[in-house]
Amino acid sequence: MENRSKFDEGKWLNLTRFALPVKVLFTGYLIVIGIGLIIAGLQILLTHGMADGKFGISVKDIVYSYYGNREGSKLEKALNGPMKQYASPQERAILIEWVRKGAPDDEYEKKVKPIIQNNCAKCHGVIPSIPDLTKKEVLKEYAKVDTGATIQQLTRLSHIHLFGMAFIFMLLGFIFSFSVGINKIIKSILIFTPFGFQLIDITGWWLTKYWPEFAYFVIIGGFGYFSASAIMILISLYQMWLMKPTDYNAWKD
Ligand code: HEC
Repeated sequence: MENRSKFDEGKWLNLTRFALPVKVLFTGYLIVIGIGLIIAGLQILLTHGMADGKFGISVKDIVYSYYGNREGSKLEKALNGPMKQYASPQERAILIEWVRKGAPDDEYEKKVKPIIQNNCAKCHGVIPSIPDLTKKEVLKEYAKVDTGATIQQLTRLSHIHLFGMAFIFMLLGFIFSFSVGINKIIKSILIFTPFGFQLIDITGWWLTKYWPEFAYFVIIGGFGYFSASAIMILISLYQMWLMKPTDYNAWKD
């Protein structure tokens, strides 16, 4: 490759050399997706960002959105509050664990029912003005937690995002591939970055749904493809409009 001079390489079609209509076409596209990315960022701040009640995106927001707020049930609140005295720490731990799992039916009979019968039934089930927690349906009602995004929501969002974003990044990468003066390897990494981070982001949604620790994936993924896109958009615009076809020789490949 070394015998090909910089001059020859410059004759090859690149961003500085495109005809005006092509530059205008590319520019229109880059501006619109640039604004789209900023608005997408704003939307994330306004929806997920407010999930913990405070403005700005945090790990907690991501956890609430995908994993849910599993400490929020009336049953857990009562067990940590006014009803604390009626069950031993071990019994409370078993009940709370059951609640946070989403109150599965298969664990009710042998794990949960005996504790309720022994500790709670003497009031809940006898005193008419308070809930009859010896009834499974009533207990489950009080054990209701917010389990975050549903599988249906995640599959819908995932495929829309994967198809839509792949399309956006395909065209963006295509335009950016005509840039000059950027080392081939660095250029290739930049072009692949949004696709890679997109996969990290969406994998993060699914993992966070079950394990809240993975919320970091979502933040890293989102930030990653946002930054890589911004860099490619700005370099492409710069080379099309501010750089002259002769300038690239000065750039180190
Ligand atoms: C000595 C009687 C008594 C026992 C035992 C008892 N509770 Fe209660 N519980 C009450 C009363 C009275 C209320 C309503 C007043 C209040 O909220 O403090 C109540 C309220 C509750 C509530 C809130 C209901 C609501 O409307 O929000 C829950 C949940 C609850 N109890 C769960 C339990 C559990 C679980 C146990 C067993 C570990 C238990 N209670 C044991 C008397 C009892």
